[in-house]
Amino acid sequence: MPMPTPASGLPAISFQNVSKTYRGGSVRALDGVSFDIQPGEFFGLLGPNGAGKTSLISILAGLSQASGGSVKVMGHDVVADYAAARRALGIVPQELVFDPFFSVREALEIQSGYFGVKGNGAWIDELLENLGLADKAKANMRQLSGGMKRRVLVAQALVHRPPVIVLDEPTAGVDVELRQTLWAFIARLNREGHTVLLTTHYLEEAEALCHRIAMLKLGRVVALDRTSDLLSGRASTMLRFKTDAALPPALAAQSRVTGRIVQIKAHDAAEVETMLATLRAAQVPVEDLEIGRADLEDVFLEIMNGAEQGVGA
Ligand SMILES: Nc1ncnc2c1ncn2[C@@H]1O[C@H](COP(=O)(O)OP(=O)(O)OP(=O)(O)O)[C@@H](O)[C@H]1O
Ligand SMILES: [Mg+2]
Repeated sequence: MPMPTPASGLPAISFQNVSKTYRGGSVRALDGVSFDIQPGEFFGLLGPNGAGKTSLISILAGLSQASGGSVKVMGHDVVADYAAARRALGIVPQELVFDPFFSVREALEIQSGYFGVKGNGAWIDELLENLGLADKAKANMRQLSGGMKRRVLVAQALVHRPPVIVLDEPTAGVDVELRQTLWAFIARLNREGHTVLLTTHYLEEAEALCHRIAMLKLGRVVALDRTSDLLSGRASTMLRFKTDAALPPALAAQSRVTGRIVQIKAHDAAEVETMLATLRAAQVPVEDLEIGRADLEDVFLEIMNGAEQGVGA
């Protein structure tokens, strides 16, 4: 099925100076967020807990009103032209919300009806198949496990074949197998022309999937670039190893330690040699030593911990 495309040159999603306050202004969740997502892009929206990702998606979905600014989907304003904007979107919400009284297939048929899509049986079958739900089609929603419910939410979001797919942490609580099936399926839809907006705390997923990434911190965009440029622009060499010993103070200050795994950022190969010499001199036993490039997680932490200025405002 050909993708409906917006009038030429229009972005798939456009955020313009979006702000959002809660509790009469005492909580500022979004503070002048502006960026565009182009048709066909796989776009990542990253940020720590409370950064404002779900607030932005709720405004996009028309579930909550911006305190300022505007949002358009395929050229349709999400407030003034709500129905057209909503029809262009398939949204997988972060929270598991579902109607416990229906079977999986009924839930998908009802959702089709809501968007006025008739004769949707073949597509519903394809969704059930691709999301590993075929044997659960007749099961009641309340009998499903948490991960299964999330699969149904994904199917529900896609049931009217929206050109723009928005996934708010779709893989939270989802097992490895479904994660792979889900990404294969979403990547296929993206190749077929669907625009995808994804938020996730699994940064390796974002690194693998997203063409461009925006990072939110305290309601402001603090980085926005092609994924490859984010990685090559900042990232440097990383020394990774496992140890049970304490690090010498000189290295401890610049290391990230996760359990037994130590990662230390180096600017170049010479610095790596110095670090290894320091470890040897301190008699720190080192296992599984690797020297590699910094990944998106390293870049993310560097940006979040740094005093970056807002961009795109
Ligand atoms: N309904 C609400 N009432 C008051 N404050 C809210 C409400 N919803 C969100 N907030 C606040 O707005 C800020 C942004 O929250 P939001 O849910 O958008 O973050 P997030 O980036 O999606 O975080 P997470 O990664 O945890 O999902 C937080 O400070 C949050 O406490
Ligand atoms: Mg959220």
